Amino acid sequence: MDTYIINGRHKLDGSIRVQGAKNSVLPILAATILNAGTSIIHNCPELRDVEAALKILRYLGCSVIRQGDTIYIDSSQLCKCTIPHSLMREMRSSVIFLGAILARTGEAVVAHPGGCELGARPIDLHLKALSTMGAEIKEYAGNVSCAAARLRGSIIDLSFPSVGATENVMISATTALGTTVLHNAAREPEIYDLQCFLNSMGAKISGAGTPVVTIDGVHSLHNTEHEVISDRIASITYLACTACAGGEILLEGTIPDHYRSVTDVFCRSGCTVTTGKDYLRFRCGGELKAVSPIVTSPYPGFPTDAQAPVMAALTKSKGITVFIENIFENRYRHVPELISMGANIRTEGRTAIVTGVSALHSASVSAADLRGGAALVAAALGAEGESIVSGLSHIDRGYEHFDENLRKLGASIYRINDTYRSEQNGTKEKAPQNAQ
Ligand code: UD1
Repeated sequence: MDTYIINGRHKLDGSIRVQGAKNSVLPILAATILNAGTSIIHNCPELRDVEAALKILRYLGCSVIRQGDTIYIDSSQLCKCTIPHSLMREMRSSVIFLGAILARTGEAVVAHPGGCELGARPIDLHLKALSTMGAEIKEYAGNVSCAAARLRGSIIDLSFPSVGATENVMISATTALGTTVLHNAAREPEIYDLQCFLNSMGAKISGAGTPVVTIDGVHSLHNTEHEVISDRIASITYLACTACAGGEILLEGTIPDHYRSVTDVFCRSGCTVTTGKDYLRFRCGGELKAVSPIVTSPYPGFPTDAQAPVMAALTKSKGITVFIENIFENRYRHVPELISMGANIRTEGRTAIVTGVSALHSASVSAADLRGGAALVAAALGAEGESIVSGLSHIDRGYEHFDENLRKLGASIYRINDTYRSEQNGTKEKAPQNAQ
């Protein structure tokens, strides 16, 4: 397993182009099943989760070719309607394939995605919506099966604006008989991107980005080409890294409008943010100030995915910041690791109280989930001395060229594998320049 060796306190400076959005490309890849034809998707980041989705598409019988950041999918030869546990467990969000396979073939059997590092993560809202649309649902031996010769348009009211359930409804209702009206839909930018993709292949969907999405079912779809939006969480993570290490960076190809709730927090804590339609300049010159409580909530509220990286930045602020995590019950697994680096954080259920300290010190820490792992990297970039971050398989799920981008900005971060480390027999040597 690989680890990052990070020497902290190097100011970040320079510009990088932000990757395509993981949370957009995943539902879009699932939706390519619908048109029984070709889809050309641009701006697809190279990530472990994207590879897992491509593996599922290939397993189902689709032809998949990647050339750089463009993926060509031909779903005309799709021949299976099941996803086995071995593929489902690689990525929890593969539940998004459920609606797509069902709509295309009339039947779908997927292994229950089960819990994950963030908590229980039930799929009841997905299943209830599909059942309302006429699917017959059975759960047995760790599998979920759905069957419906053709789904029917329905009125669906989500009890919570679940991102995944909204996507599953949009995808499965695209070719349903009649109109589906989805109330209390998630409003994330990735939902709007999915609408753009589906409409580009002939769907008739409106309202994405508002709480009511209307899907007029169509009989057939055609080939399409689409460019995935920029990843707002990756952008936020680079800001958090800069807030930890200090410095000034320019993010290109980003959409600052998609993460105002987070840049507002950074501005209130003393950072400077200048934005254009597709760029953001960020400067953190000195000590951050604590801010009023940060409460995670569905978009356009403060994103749960930004909680850990922003917490890392505020560990060195002046004063006390309270975090309240309202989306996932188990999303403070980075906290003990940050404490081992000298942070002062107390958690009580969904609340974390961060009392700023003047400095963090190096430590050997381990990522327990994707965004928590990114937070540890950010913290290490601002800590005195050499830190080791392990558990990179989590970070690889969501960040493309992470260490490379950070080095481009002047960070001292190197990826090495355990063999190299054990060869050093415990003697701490500087990572070689070419270790990646
Ligand atoms: C998506 C994002 C993830 C982000 C999350 C919240 C992708 C691939 N992942 O995940 O990065 O953190 O949105 O913004 O886009 N819930 C239920 N029943 C359901 C579905 C969800 O109770 O059927 C609960 C979940 O347990 C969780 C909350 O609703 O507590 C939010 O989940 P949801 O919005 O569905 O998140 P995901 O789509 O899984």
